[in-house]
Amino acid sequence: MKVKLFSLVTVFLMIFMYGKSQSARISATAAADATEIKELHLPPAERGGGRPFMEVLNERKTTRHFSERELEPHLLSGLLWAANGINREDDGKRTAPSARDMREIDIYIITPQGAYLYMPEGHQTKLIKAGDFRKEAAGRSEFAASAPIILVFVANAKKMEKMDAAAKDAYAHIDCGYVSQNVYLYCASENLATVALGGVDKEGMTKILDLKEDKVILSQPVGHMD
Ligand SMILES: Cc1cc2nc3c(=O)[nH]c(=O)nc-3n(C[C@H](O)[C@H](O)[C@H](O)COP(=O)(O)O)c2cc1C
Repeated sequence: MKVKLFSLVTVFLMIFMYGKSQSARISATAAADATEIKELHLPPAERGGGRPFMEVLNERKTTRHFSERELEPHLLSGLLWAANGINREDDGKRTAPSARDMREIDIYIITPQGAYLYMPEGHQTKLIKAGDFRKEAAGRSEFAASAPIILVFVANAKKMEKMDAAAKDAYAHIDCGYVSQNVYLYCASENLATVALGGVDKEGMTKILDLKEDKVILSQPVGHMD
């Protein structure tokens, strides 16, 4: 009887210890995954320099071949600021105009590591979700899925609340066009490759970014020339 009880206790202890070690292993893996995600560091954006404006217009073009080389932090910083950063600190106005100053175009940055949101206030980014979602961001344009970053432009419904329904859609698309053109111009200035992509997988990106009322409008990969 004593022997039986002893073996029972031993088996119970072994199961208990195994369970503990497994859960420790799982949480260690989760922690490793979380630390492996690269934060996007944005140094202050360089607001001077670049090519002369008329040269930039002369060089503005669509390019559909991208080097897979990562964009250096100073280029990512300049790109995001040029796209829709704050150029007037006193009232937070942007490099791109927006109807009724709604500032409703959010920029998500899709990298091989994750999806990030650009926050013009503070010129920083926030990780939204870990994982490589470039396939969905490229959508029908598969050639773009290997670009080091793909910007996804999203109209933020909360910021358009005061506008009537019929006007919302049109203004969101118009405002997005300015942001996209800013990206084109920055790329021309820095000799980077870019293309606006109307074929972005809107449904896929909506799910990945967990957007409720917000609308995906356009995506735009950016990379070094191949
Ligand atoms: C709103 C918009 C959507 C576009 N969508 C795509 C697209 O899905 N795939 C693509 O390869 N190019 C796309 N383009 C790029 C155009 O094809 C390109 O701008 C056009 O051929 C003119 O070339 P350029 O930009 O070099 O002047 C798009 C451009 C705009 C403005």
